[in-house]
Amino acid sequence: MKNKLQQLKDEISSQLNTVANNELLRDFENKYLSRKGKLGKLMKEIKDLGEDARKEIGQFANTTKQEINAKYLEIKKKFATGGPKNEFIDVTLPGNNVKHGHLHPITLIQKELEELFTSLGFIILDGPELESDFYNFEALNVSKHHPARDMQDTFYVDKKNEAGEYDLVMRTQTSPVQIRALEKHGAPLRGISVGRVFRSEATDVRHEHTFYQMEGLMVGEKLSFADMKGVLELVGKKLYGPETELRMRPKFYPFVEPGSNGEYTCFLCAGQGCRVCKHSGWLEILGCGMIHPDVLRASGVDPEKYTGFAFGFGLNRLVMLKYGIDDIRLFNSGDMRFLAQF
Ligand code: DAH
Repeated sequence: MKNKLQQLKDEISSQLNTVANNELLRDFENKYLSRKGKLGKLMKEIKDLGEDARKEIGQFANTTKQEINAKYLEIKKKFATGGPKNEFIDVTLPGNNVKHGHLHPITLIQKELEELFTSLGFIILDGPELESDFYNFEALNVSKHHPARDMQDTFYVDKKNEAGEYDLVMRTQTSPVQIRALEKHGAPLRGISVGRVFRSEATDVRHEHTFYQMEGLMVGEKLSFADMKGVLELVGKKLYGPETELRMRPKFYPFVEPGSNGEYTCFLCAGQGCRVCKHSGWLEILGCGMIHPDVLRASGVDPEKYTGFAFGFGLNRLVMLKYGIDDIRLFNSGDMRFLAQF
């Protein structure tokens, strides 16, 4: 009998510990403490014992019951004060801070550039990331076996056209937007486009398979190299301050003639020479040139009537220079330790 009581006491104690709300407490009450409950039944059996045993067991049973009751009341009280009716809400307490997300550093620079160019009357253009070989290469003066294809390691999509050629690529540059935009809007046109581009690169701190470029173009009557220089100078001053100068040196790009690079005074050392500009005082930021007549023609624009210029640059590099980021792979890493810094 004593053993039975002890067993029940253990069972009740462990059950009480699992009681997590008022409803479970009521179930517990019914199962163990009510008149027909397990404890009550066992207590009733005590009166059938012999006199000595009854005295001894009775005492033990009473203390057991008291202990269980105390614990039960304690829990009951806890639920009662914790319940909504007795809860006191201090409405003057400051709320829990909700963490706000924020824009990715690439998006920040994208917005900055879009604001700058729209203030100059440029419209914002868009184009697909999965591009046809025609827009990404052919229309930009890079025919099938032109060695210029080697400049951009390309992801070809594993699907052949009727002629048995792979003609879908993940765009390697935003330049195809030039063709699409001129086809759609015609000349004259001023526009920019920011987006992702893809290259089959072996990745390292300076190379990434997916990165961002901005493309710009302006097509109109009598636009000259001087107009391009003027616009790009202004861009440099807006990005890096009024003292910024532009230096241009000839560079080959198949879709422009003449083609050039664009270097700005290093904003870190103001042209004095530092580690970032490799002690040259200049940062090479962009590629540009006068749009090749063949490219205008491929877009349905008459090169006898219109001329234009185009330029492109990598956004990741701009951001890396601005914030001193030394590994391009961080941008796509999703690593909060990196992202939370902006
Ligand atoms: N698409 C070129 C690249 O990815 C950048 C570029 C160079 C764009 C010259 C242009 C341009 O519009 O005129 O390297």
